[in-house]
Amino acid sequence: AGQRDLAGLRILVTAGATQEALDPVRYLTNRSSGKMGYAIAEEAARRGAEVILVTGPTALEPPADVRVVRVTTAQEMYEAVLDAYPRVDVVIKAAAVADYRPKTVHAQKMKKGAETLVLELERTPDILQTLGERKAHQFLVGFAAETERVADYAQEKLKRKNLDLVVANDVTQEGAGFGADTNIVAVYDRDGLVAEWPKLPKREVAARLLSLIAQRVRRVS
Ligand code: C5P
Repeated sequence: AGQRDLAGLRILVTAGATQEALDPVRYLTNRSSGKMGYAIAEEAARRGAEVILVTGPTALEPPADVRVVRVTTAQEMYEAVLDAYPRVDVVIKAAAVADYRPKTVHAQKMKKGAETLVLELERTPDILQTLGERKAHQFLVGFAAETERVADYAQEKLKRKNLDLVVANDVTQEGAGFGADTNIVAVYDRDGLVAEWPKLPKREVAARLLSLIAQRVRRVS
């Protein structure tokens, strides 16, 4: 018998990396596989939530019973997420969104010539920060992939982006973060550490995280 503790909740999940074009054949991206976000979307749907998954390009199969919105750039993810935002109860931002994109997208393939080349980059919109600023009834969960001072940076992010929970992982640890099927995370709220779990399959991290969210969302509503 399946647990249906998320029935009636509309959950928006973002996953994967974004790709920021430089010219018709090149782009900037990062090592996110999308596995954590897909695991969350799949588990949330299994437990009865209505799920929208906004995803960058990944090699993964879309989960069953989930509405999938495919995007490529940070700007496209921003638009898809903001569009759905008024109609959802929970947002879980597992995507690794590019912080910068090439300032100029060349119409033709760039030719090689000089020995060195400097690329000018500009900031992309911070999606989660915008959601935090425009928060009404929504419960906001962010991810923080860090390589140092994990707890400090995660809590600083939670406050700056007006989040309800932040899931922090040290991506330098074996079996944590990008590409792996497992993750090692700690969860924080405004008051500090909420939970710290050992190395677990991403499916199990997703299940535990959704249980924490369910408790908190049900408590206030
Ligand atoms: O600041 P940083 O990028 O490390 O924050 C990570 C969190 O913010 C993640 O939940 C990520 O999905 C979200 N984010 C975002 N838009 C950006 C950058 C990050 O929503 N442009």
